[in-house]
Amino acid sequence: MKNRFKQAKDIKVGVIGYGGAFNMGKLHLQDMLKAGMTPWAVAEPDAVRLAVAAKEFPGIQTYASVTEMLAKSEVNLVVIITPHNTHAPIALQCLRAGRHVVSEKPLAITTAECDAMIAAARKAGVMVSTFHNRHWDGSIVKALEVVRSGAIGDIVRIEAHMGQWGKPGDWWRSSKSISGGILYDWGVHLLEYSLQLLDSEIAEVSGFAKSGFWAGQSKWGADTIEDEGFAVVRFKSGTWLTLCVTGIDASPKRGMVEVTGTKGTFWWDYDNYEITVRDSEKAIVTKGRNPTSLWEKYYENVAAHLVKGAPLTITPEWSRRPIHILDLADRSAREGRALKPKYV
Ligand SMILES: NC(=O)c1ccc[n+]([C@@H]2O[C@H](COP(=O)([O-])OP(=O)(O)OC[C@H]3O[C@@H](n4cnc5c(N)ncnc54)[C@H](O)[C@@H]3O)[C@@H](O)[C@H]2O)c1
Repeated sequence: MKNRFKQAKDIKVGVIGYGGAFNMGKLHLQDMLKAGMTPWAVAEPDAVRLAVAAKEFPGIQTYASVTEMLAKSEVNLVVIITPHNTHAPIALQCLRAGRHVVSEKPLAITTAECDAMIAAARKAGVMVSTFHNRHWDGSIVKALEVVRSGAIGDIVRIEAHMGQWGKPGDWWRSSKSISGGILYDWGVHLLEYSLQLLDSEIAEVSGFAKSGFWAGQSKWGADTIEDEGFAVVRFKSGTWLTLCVTGIDASPKRGMVEVTGTKGTFWWDYDNYEITVRDSEKAIVTKGRNPTSLWEKYYENVAAHLVKGAPLTITPEWSRRPIHILDLADRSAREGRALKPKYV
């Protein structure tokens, strides 16, 4: 990789997209500051949000477009915090301009887009990574500790799910063409957790989708995300994974991820976990609060990679895996058959 830096402060960060839904731009820049990087510029077409960025980071350069920022600014690392369908085109533009790129999750919508981004990064000799902050969620750190201790035996299956009953909101996440579909927003986090636990190659993916129930009441009409998306992933190790994200669940299930092993079950939600192990007939239940999440570790690793050449934790090949599953599930749902992966 060219463009290695002497020190973290030489990494001049340009934020692309300073949206108001979760004020993610501020969170990124704060974590980048903690990692020693320098907030340098923001590109955002919404003048109101650009003014918010200027107020939160006094002195930061502001631009109305990515093209203008790339032409006029010395930023050498960009972070893309925009709607999902813009990640690949913006990343390609920045990579071709020789800038290192961090994209918010999901890296892209399709496998082909991920491939193009990886190829462009290699050609330019720069880094591309995905902000998988939830790789450092306390819940998955605890889950890995429990599974690796052998407490629940060998993993048989993982069921990852998120559900509610309610029509999709008016925001871009409810547009299929912009977001990629109902599975893309949270599904990519749930898959990224699960792939850490399963540590096996993908054998095939089946996808299922129910659409049309909410579409008539949504501002996106025929472009509304599915009412429910479902995927089944078969792994070469013999384990399997199900992923369900739904807007038509009148009785939402407990937890977000449930891991079933030969000796016990582990599940967690945002705040809590529960382990149930069997001692002959008796079920022994341990409940607890998830440990604190350490999202700042993401940018610590990116800085160490760009300055010292430390291995990148969230490589683009790693973040392509959940996208590949989502892409295959989407195609499988349309074709009504299981699909074999290009990347295992
Ligand atoms: N990792 C996490 O925990 C987490 C949490 C929330 C959101 N996200 C991700 O962050 C991304 C953005 O989501 P959000 O909720 O912040 O959305 P948002 O709608 O609040 O913000 C998106 C911003 O992007 C801007 N934008 C759109 N096109 C642009 C372009 N071409 N150039 C520059 N700016 C452009 C919009 O004007 C808007 O201000 C998504 O990928 C989402 O999945 C991740």
